[in-house]
This record gives sequence, C-alpha cells and structure tokens, in this order.
Amino acid sequence: MDLQDKTIVITGAAQGLGQKMAEMISRQGATVALVDLDHTKLQDTVRLCSATGGKVKDYPADVTDESAVEALFNGVHNAFGSVDGVINNARVTSDALLVKVKDGKVQKKMPVEEFHKVIAVDLRGVFLCGREAAVHMIDGRNGGVIVNISSISRAGNVGQTNYSAAKAGVAAMTVTWAKELARYNIRVAGIAPGFCNTRMVAKIPPKSWTGSSRQFPCDGSLRRRRSDARRCSFYKTTTAPVAFWKLMVGCVYEPRYAPLSVR
Ligand SMILES: NC(=O)c1ccc[n+]([C@@H]2O[C@H](COP(=O)([O-])OP(=O)(O)OC[C@H]3O[C@@H](n4cnc5c(N)ncnc54)[C@H](O)[C@@H]3O)[C@@H](O)[C@H]2O)c1
Repeated sequence: MDLQDKTIVITGAAQGLGQKMAEMISRQGATVALVDLDHTKLQDTVRLCSATGGKVKDYPADVTDESAVEALFNGVHNAFGSVDGVINNARVTSDALLVKVKDGKVQKKMPVEEFHKVIAVDLRGVFLCGREAAVHMIDGRNGGVIVNISSISRAGNVGQTNYSAAKAGVAAMTVTWAKELARYNIRVAGIAPGFCNTRMVAKIPPKSWTGSSRQFPCDGSLRRRRSDARRCSFYKTTTAPVAFWKLMVGCVYEPRYAPLSVR
C-alpha cells in the first residue's frame, strides 16, 4: 500500500508502539488520526508526527465505547474524506493469577472486574474499531488495510488469563475478517509481538521476564526496538512472503483470503 495521502487511524497512539508506528507512517506521507484515552500524552505524538510534515489530528476517544468509536470514524471520514487503514493497538493489562495459593490455601481469586476491564479494551475495542473501519472502507469502495496487534501471549501466559484470552480473540477475529472482507478489497493482518521495552513492559519486575526471554522472537534480548513498528509499516507497503513474517515476529496471520495487491 502506498501510504502517500492515505488516512490511517492508530489507536493507543499516545505512547509505546502506537506512537512509534504513528511517527513512521506519518513519515511515509500518510495522514494519521491518533486515538487515545490519554489526551495529554497524545500531544507528544501529535508533535512527533507534525514534525514529519504530515497531516495529523488527535482524537481523545475510548475504544470500548460504541458511540464514541462510531463518532470517531465519522469524524475521521469528515475531516479527511476516507479511512484507508486502521491499526488496532490500544491495550491495557491487569495481570494476576487465576487463583493465588499459599501453603495450599487459596488466598485470592482474579476479580471478574479485572477480567472484563482487559477484555473491554483489548478485544471489544478491536472489534468496534475494526467494524467501523470496515464500514467506511466498504462505503468508500477503495478497499483498505486493517492491522490488529495481538501478542505472543495469545497462546496462554501465566498471570495473564484476561490478556491472553483477549489476544487469542484478536487473532481469531483477524483471520475471520481476512476471510469476510477480502471481497471488498480490504486486507486484514495481525502482528503478535514478543516483549518490546515500552513503558508498560518497563513496569514488569525483571525477575518476571527471565522465563519469558526464551520466547523473544528475534535475538533474545529485551531492548528498546522499533522493529514491530517497522514491520507494521513494512507490511502495509509490500506483499512480503508470509514466511518472512513468521520468522521475524511471534506470528503473523496470513491474509490468504485477501488480494495481494490492493492499490
Ligand atoms: N510492549 C510489549 O512488549 C508488547 C508485547 C506483545 C504485544 N504488545 C501489543 O502491542 C500493542 C502496543 O503495546 P505497548 O506496550 O506499546 O502499549 P502501551 O501500554 O504502552 O500503550 C497502550 C496505549 O493504549 C491506550 N489505551 C488504553 N485504554 C484505552 C482505551 N480504552 N481507549 C483508547 N486508548 C486506550 C493507553 O492510554 C496507551 O497509550 C498492544 O496491543 C500490546 O498488547 C506489546
């Protein structure tokens, strides 16, 4: 996909991978619609994207709120005339064991509220933004690209019942949408990163990553890297062989049902 003058919506753009992807996509000539709950931090991304010379607009919206998401996509369409891509990246985590046991006695259960909180942002939010993006892409008759950010945790990760369930759901929705939306010239793909040293990951105590380091997809080190942001941008500009993606990240969902060249 040639990103020049395309309008790309990026959720969770105030920090971390979302911010980096926004900056890189903006550098390639796209108009970026930046979405986040945290309007103050979002201004940092607005500044970074504006510095590239690209068009940028911030949307302080909650991806779990259906009417807010509908208004968001209508607003992007009215402001820029089309919705050509969305990167479903916003997330929260609230890690805990399903049941915490000490000396054979159950001490704590994962509160159902903590389960729902993560499912709301990480699964429902992706559903709502993917659906509204598809509506505008179909209405616009120009196709588009939907990129869902999953995680290696989608296969199950200790202490992440809620997050793993959401990310597995995101993986399943990605394949479903690739099948359903190909006929409208909409390509759908997922990226499942391993650990990237964003602010949220930096809060995890180092002893908790030790076991996980074996799962790092690239070089086994937890270091600040822009690679997932690059891959996302790369995905949108090429028809790279799926084997490459599988090699480079935890997993990429093959858009087997979508046409390989959109525009
Ligand atoms: N960082 C990692 O190691 C890692 C690993 C695997 C997958 N991922 C995935 O990559 C993506 C980006 O990760 P990150 O570490 O950069 O994230 P992050 O936690 O640094 O940023 C997430 C952003 O989402 C925003 N957000 C939260 N709830 C929202 C809501 N209801 N509406 C709108 N915005 C909301 C937050 O304000 C925040 O700016 C996520 O989908 C994450 O699951 C990250």
